[in-house]
Amino acid sequence: MAEYTIKVRRFQPESGEGPYWEEFNVDLDPSLSVLDGLLQAKDRDDGSLSVRCSCRAAICGSCGMKINGQSGLGCKTQIGEAQEQADKTASAVGNDSSSIPIVIEPMGNMPVIKDLITDMESTHWTKIRRVTPWLLPHGEPPEREYIVESESMIDITQSMACIQCGACVSSCLSMEADPDFIGPAALAKAYRFVGDPRDAESKERLHDLAHDPHGIYDCTHCFSCIDACPKGVAPMDQIMRLRRKAGEEGIEDPNSGHDHEIAFVKIIEKKGTLDESLLLQESFAPGIKGKLKPNKRAIREMLGSIPTAIRGIKTGKMRSLPKLIPGIHHKLPGDAQDDVKAIYKHAEEHSEEFNLYIKGEEGELVDEDVEKGIERSTDPDTAEAK
Ligand code: SF4
Ligand code: SF4
Ligand code: FES
Repeated sequence: MAEYTIKVRRFQPESGEGPYWEEFNVDLDPSLSVLDGLLQAKDRDDGSLSVRCSCRAAICGSCGMKINGQSGLGCKTQIGEAQEQADKTASAVGNDSSSIPIVIEPMGNMPVIKDLITDMESTHWTKIRRVTPWLLPHGEPPEREYIVESESMIDITQSMACIQCGACVSSCLSMEADPDFIGPAALAKAYRFVGDPRDAESKERLHDLAHDPHGIYDCTHCFSCIDACPKGVAPMDQIMRLRRKAGEEGIEDPNSGHDHEIAFVKIIEKKGTLDESLLLQESFAPGIKGKLKPNKRAIREMLGSIPTAIRGIKTGKMRSLPKLIPGIHHKLPGDAQDDVKAIYKHAEEHSEEFNLYIKGEEGELVDEDVEKGIERSTDPDTAEAK
């Protein structure tokens, strides 16, 4: 047994007061869950403490919450681990106090009904219904079940593992900026049907999701939903699969999201890191591997993007004017560019799906760098991708 302090963000609408923080001391084995801690506090200290739960075994998806700022399930997070995380975060900011509380909040991107209970209907379930979450087969249904090759279902088993807990929605940075974004859970659900061999309307679904300005190209590829998901659904990967399939179907989206994505891939292949000066040009008038091919739409889009570029310079995203001039982007050290090309070649030859993960923090040296004597730049553009 060990003693823990949990600091809960509370909201009791009937009181007429705004949200407030309250601390509870609980006494639990470290292997028990944060949800167990909350239930103990409710039992011993305050019966009005409200939390949604049912299975207590990471199956029903009811107990989504934020623990130390990270979205997940209360019943799947061991209280001992949550304490270690709280201590680690506090010591990283120079707070070495011996009584760091575990901070528990309701999920983000959703209205709070009471304490840790959020309104899943307005954000989560409405978006799930948006993607027509049922099979749309062709013709009359068979007398008995549809027979499909089991191999043809492997691709969608990952998205089928979703328990609709909303943790990914809670952590989604795009949804924070654009509440109308269809979001990670609903788009993972969409892939479950787009990838199903029995569905006859996959192309229509892709067209719909690519043309919706809040659809598949509204995801900023931030990986938060992958970190949050307790069931390994990796919603962002499902969104990338939807994008890939939309590209294979030749679906041109009005925001040039597909062309923009291809531009990223080509620039990294050629330069190793993102040369922002080429991004606009490559997205609308590809030329990195040949002559520029501007067309009316490209010129219109590039002119329309000038305010965005100016905002980028002002906010520091595009750091300086010289960085916007194509051709003066820095090169990767040593033969690192050959390594990047080898990764591309391997992925193409093996039809492999790969995502880039940024390892470490900006400016931080990782062990391998130290061994290789590589000096890491403080420029995020040069952060190493694995
Ligand atoms: S990867 Fe995309 S869907 Fe997932 S949290 Fe980030 S923006 Fe949202
Ligand atoms: S994708 Fe994962 S995090 Fe999102 S609702 Fe489904 S199980 Fe929860
Ligand atoms: S109580 Fe069912 S998932 Fe946590």
